[in-house]
Formats: sequence, structure tokens, C-alpha cells
Amino acid sequence: SDIGSIKAFADANGLSPIPSSYYSIVEGRDDVADHLASSIPVIDFSLLTSDHPQLHANAVSQLGKACAEWGIFMVTNHGISEKLMEEVMNKAHEFHNLPVEEKKEFGDKGPWAPIRHGTSFLPQGEKVHYWRDHLKVLTFPQFNFPHKPPGFKEVAYDYSRKIRAVARTLLQGISESLGLESKALMEFTGFDSGLQVFIVNLYPPCPQPELALGLPPHTDQGLLTLLYQNGIGGLQVNHDDKWINVNPLPNCLIVNVADQLEVVSNGKYKSILHRAILNNKHTRMSIPLLNGPKLEKEIGPVPELVEKEEPLYKTIKYRDYFQVQQQARLANKSVLDELRL
Ligand code: SIN
Ligand code: FE2
Repeated sequence: SDIGSIKAFADANGLSPIPSSYYSIVEGRDDVADHLASSIPVIDFSLLTSDHPQLHANAVSQLGKACAEWGIFMVTNHGISEKLMEEVMNKAHEFHNLPVEEKKEFGDKGPWAPIRHGTSFLPQGEKVHYWRDHLKVLTFPQFNFPHKPPGFKEVAYDYSRKIRAVARTLLQGISESLGLESKALMEFTGFDSGLQVFIVNLYPPCPQPELALGLPPHTDQGLLTLLYQNGIGGLQVNHDDKWINVNPLPNCLIVNVADQLEVVSNGKYKSILHRAILNNKHTRMSIPLLNGPKLEKEIGPVPELVEKEEPLYKTIKYRDYFQVQQQARLANKSVLDELRL
């Protein structure tokens, strides 16, 4: 088919065995450290924005610790209403439920197309396929969005702006946690003109969930990913060489450190390796919004941080990073290894 959809395939194939092109080698599948899930740090956003200096300082130090030791944390009291989050999730589901014919116009027209709908992970060249459909939309600095289903674009606009504001405040706290001025990382990365990508993942139930993956292990582009999921688990993160299930608190945002934050922090903060596993009962959906630098900014370690230590990463324009990412992924290499000096 033109766009290709694992959802359409799964709907039509019921419980039939999955095609072998979906078989993944899944390391540590049975060795998942579930008991550690509860130790994923929780950041109370209302303390970060508190006027009380000591409460704010405590939140900043917890944020720094979460970025350094984990690279992933949950954010509570972020101020985005439950109603808006539910509306976004419902409309996103309606989008994926549109007939294949209706979604053809959004089929993937290459990496810089403002709207891309398709399946799998690396449409142009992967050997193993992944049990996922996606919609990827560039929502900042220019807001693009599909015009259907009705109302999706409006709630997505509202949500993407609110997520940017939360990401901006987190980035200020993260700057402070590095001993920099609160605006330092925003200015250095051109965050206020930064790229935002709005992704909607749908993972249909998989008849043989132990053979395939929804997404292979990867790190994200950008500075901070803010993710919201429906009630179904499946996100796993690699911590101290172990895979851990992420079981989010209700209504929280899951935030992860992404590649450019590792680079600007000169490796103090780690871009976390994560993957999505499958189940055979429920459709899982996740909505990560990737918030990154301005495309034309040169991104390397922040100068203040490398006055007294060696820079560990190359400086390259954010726009040029995507080429490096694509090459690394196709060659099954770590993107960050390619960025290291
Ligand atoms: C992603 O890495 O883009 C999504 C992970 C998830 O589905 O939880
Ligand atoms: Fe990701």
C-alpha cells in the first residue's frame, strides 16, 4: 500500500502469526527490572515555578539529579488540564482510525515534510520492521497539522504551545542546575525559535508480542521530549544496563533528556536509551513532543561548561545532525558515538 499501516494489517490479520520481517532480537526481555520502576524520579512542576526560593532551589537540584542519574523523570502538577490531554488523545486515536484512503494525503514524503504518516521506524531502509504506526508533524516554529478529524488541529495547537511552555521552564531549571544563568541554555540553543515535532504513535495489539518490538532502542533528537500515553504500558528505558518498565503516574508527563541536551551539557546529562514493547490485548498510544534547538544554531558543549574541562562532543548545526542520525540508525550505530570527539 502507499502509506503502509500496521494497524490496517493487524486489523485484517487477527491472530495470524506475524511476518518474520517483524522479528526483533530483544535483549533482556525476561530480565526487566520492574521493581525499579518506582524509583524513576518525580519532579513537582509547581515547586519548580514556586516563588519560594528554597522550594525552587530544591526542585532545581532534584531536576539536575534526575537528568544526571536517570535522563528520564515524571513531571506532576504541570498545569496542563486533564481535559485537554484527553481530547488530544481521543482526536489522535480518531486520526489513526480514519480509513487508510483518508490518510493517503499525509503519507511520508521525506524527512522534512511537515506532516508524515506511516509505519515502522526507518521507512527508507530498515531490515527489521516495527509494529507501530506514526503521525509526525512539525508544530514549531511553524504550526502544521492535518485538517482531519475535525477539531484535531485546534486541540493540537493548544497542546503543543502548552507543552513548549513546560519544556521552556524545565530548560530554565536545567540551566540553573548546571550552574548557568536560567536563560543560558535557551539562548545558546535558540529555543524560542526551536524545532518542535509532535508525534502520535499507535501500537496495535500484536499476536506474538515476544517476537517483535514497537520501537527499537534509540535516543531522541532535541533537548527534551515530553510524552503522554494512554493507560497502556510499553515504554522501557535502559538504566545501568538494565531495561526498566516505565509505569507513569496518572496525568503526568514523562520527560526525557534527548541528544542535544547531552551535547550542550558536555555529557553531564544523559540522553536516555529507550524502546517500546508490545502486548497482545490492547492498542497502546503514546504522544511524544520533541522540543529542540533552532535548526540554524551550532550545537556543541556550552562554552561556560568547557572553560575548565575538555569538550567531549563536536559542534554541528542542528539541521546537520539529522543526517548524522539517519546514517547512524541505518548502520545500527549509536548516534551519540558519532557526535563524540
Ligand atoms: C518514542 O520513543 O517515540 C515513543 C516511546 C513510547 O511509545 O513510549
Ligand atoms: Fe523516542
